[in-house]
Amino acid sequence: MEFLLVVFSLVLVLATKNANGGGGFSFDEYYYQTFGGNHLTILDQGNEVQLLLDQSTGAGFSSRRDFGSGYFGISMKIPDKNSTGVDTSFYLISVPVGQPVGGVKHYEVDIEFFGTNGNPHVLSTNVFMNDFGGKEQLFHLWFDPTVDFHKYEILWNQNQIVWFVDETPIRVWKNMSNRGVGFPAVPMHVEASIWNPNWLGTIDWRQGPFTAHYREFPINGCRYQGSNPRDCFSQNYYWNQPQYSQLSPDQQRKLREARRNYMFEDYCNDPIKKGQECQFNQ
Ligand SMILES: *[C@@H]1O[C@H](CO)[C@@H](O)[C@H](O)[C@H]1NC(C)=O
Ligand SMILES: *[C@@H]1O[C@H](CO)[C@@H](O)[C@H](O)[C@H]1NC(C)=O
Repeated sequence: MEFLLVVFSLVLVLATKNANGGGGFSFDEYYYQTFGGNHLTILDQGNEVQLLLDQSTGAGFSSRRDFGSGYFGISMKIPDKNSTGVDTSFYLISVPVGQPVGGVKHYEVDIEFFGTNGNPHVLSTNVFMNDFGGKEQLFHLWFDPTVDFHKYEILWNQNQIVWFVDETPIRVWKNMSNRGVGFPAVPMHVEASIWNPNWLGTIDWRQGPFTAHYREFPINGCRYQGSNPRDCFSQNYYWNQPQYSQLSPDQQRKLREARRNYMFEDYCNDPIKKGQECQFNQ
């Protein structure tokens, strides 16, 4: 009888664990903390993480693995106060954690929120390609990102990089390396953080502390094993299959609409900053 009870409770525990929806995986399985000490808090049995920024520090985390392709995503809710100066991010980067930029070729694909005082929050997308950055496209989204969790994703395969917000594509960077446009041919890992870059302006600390929340940690990525990067181009990974090599007509329509309605700044309109990629990524 006792034995049966034990078995029964075990089954219950397992069932409860699986009932956590698709997010039944813990933060620890995919990510580790990179900075911020106790400013990172694990909530909901590892299914949610809070990052906190105050005058002493922000906080951040990194994927445990390097990747060569993937469909990377996370759910995120950003600080809900007057938050000018606060940066909440989710991005891919080639520079190893803790190493200064310059050690390896710098590739980066960014999704970042710039906090504001009352105005709509700014979603910034940017890239570094072969050490060149300054390719920002800025959006005011169609919802308030401080109220609920929303899904932010980056698709990266041999043909394109696509930024998605709640499954709507908002930006594309095509692989036009045959036309001299940069495209990441090196492993990247995922990072996320809350911090206060000095170029974003002065924070009103009376509003603090600022907290960002993240969920849905599983990573759909091809683990880069340091042997052959081409292994990550295999069609065994669903994100490398033909339907992911370019946007569908429906996605292209959504992309155009999102950019027309919500993008308010584009480096491609700046004669000094624009690059030749601008002609391919419309
Ligand atoms: C937030 O900033 C706006 C504009 O500066 C100001 O009107 C408002 O009072 C601020 N709110 C708080 C809670 O400080
Ligand atoms: C970019 O596309 C070219 C074909 O035009 C291909 O040979 C190359 O492997 C691609 N680069 C990456 C990093 O996926």
